[in-house]
Amino acid sequence: MACDQAMYDKTLSNTFIILLALTCYTSVLVVLALVYPTTQIINIQLKGFEYQNHQRRDVEDFEKEIQSIFSPEKCKEDEKMRLITSGYDKRTEEITSYIDCHCSKRNKCVPNTLGRISVNMNVTTMDEVFKESFTKILNPGGWYVPKQCKTSSVAIVIPYRNRESQLSIFLRHYHPIFIRQKLHYRIFVIDQVDKDPFNRGKLMNVGYNEAKKYFPYDCVVFHDVDLLLEDDRLMYSCQSSPQHLSVSLDKYNYRLLYQELFGGIEMFTRDHFELINGFSNSFWGWGAEDDNLYRRLAWKGLTLWRPSVHRARYKMIKHDNAEVDAKSDRFDIRKESYKHFATDGLSSLKYEVKETILHPTHTHVKVDLHMAKDDLFGIVNYEKPK
Ligand SMILES: *[C@@H]1O[C@H](CO)[C@@H](O)[C@H](O)[C@H]1NC(C)=O
Repeated sequence: MACDQAMYDKTLSNTFIILLALTCYTSVLVVLALVYPTTQIINIQLKGFEYQNHQRRDVEDFEKEIQSIFSPEKCKEDEKMRLITSGYDKRTEEITSYIDCHCSKRNKCVPNTLGRISVNMNVTTMDEVFKESFTKILNPGGWYVPKQCKTSSVAIVIPYRNRESQLSIFLRHYHPIFIRQKLHYRIFVIDQVDKDPFNRGKLMNVGYNEAKKYFPYDCVVFHDVDLLLEDDRLMYSCQSSPQHLSVSLDKYNYRLLYQELFGGIEMFTRDHFELINGFSNSFWGWGAEDDNLYRRLAWKGLTLWRPSVHRARYKMIKHDNAEVDAKSDRFDIRKESYKHFATDGLSSLKYEVKETILHPTHTHVKVDLHMAKDDLFGIVNYEKPK
């Protein structure tokens, strides 16, 4: 019995131990099940902190590195060197202002454009335009550099003769746009004062050449005076390809007239414009210099880029005095001109600046193009084909 009792007790205690062990095991499991996810979370969080700290350290290192590369002093020295090597030994106010702004700010300008804008075609005078509020932030000669951020520079070149009412409307319309686009820009009005037929292409070349004296602009926009932009999101700053900006005009129901059309507004980087030797100087009288320009792109393997017709929309100012010179000599000058890109252009440009006036809204260059002294296609004693 005692033995039985003992056996019973033993069995009982064994059962008890087993039960206890099971309970313990289960508890451990339960506790583990409860604790494990928490530890996992803690673990993940710890890793996260580590990661964040690591990242923060990376960012700090990176910023320090940038700071050392981007010391304003080093930047100013570099920019000065760049300008000097491109021929700017004397420092114009525009250059000084550009270097200071460019080098003291790291962030790129963000345009604050409006989208579709209304076009004010109401008649105005130059004196009224000079009193507009935007003239307060312009510098004499009609240039502007945004103070708070880095931006690209662009020269706007307008071929001009006796269109003051159109020019006034143009300046009133475009200055606020360029300021909103946060461009470093300057407007050059190239005024043909001689009595020879109007020569749009040669005036553009003169404008390019004169603009270079003020600043090595990244970009040049050759702009007819009678075209007013309807959407300010169309940026006047260069992409890699030459661009045709005046894609859709109200006059033509906002459609591109033909695929080769390259008139109205043309935009080039300096390098591309130099590469194609600029415009032809040989088109006296209205028209066809743009077809020549179009062919020059193919000559150097450049592709023309056009923005969408929805954005590159323009209204054309009605011509009050339809003074259009008929071309006197229509021997195949257009076709013939395609053979002489290399001699006819920037390389053969001859002109005389009569006067340069720095107006509050633009740099007015009065120029004599000296038609009589020009060699056709830049070739001395060029003989017209029979
Ligand atoms: C244009 O002139 C008209 C008539 O004088 C005037 O009612 C209108 O407000 C002007 N438009 C703008 C944009 O100034």
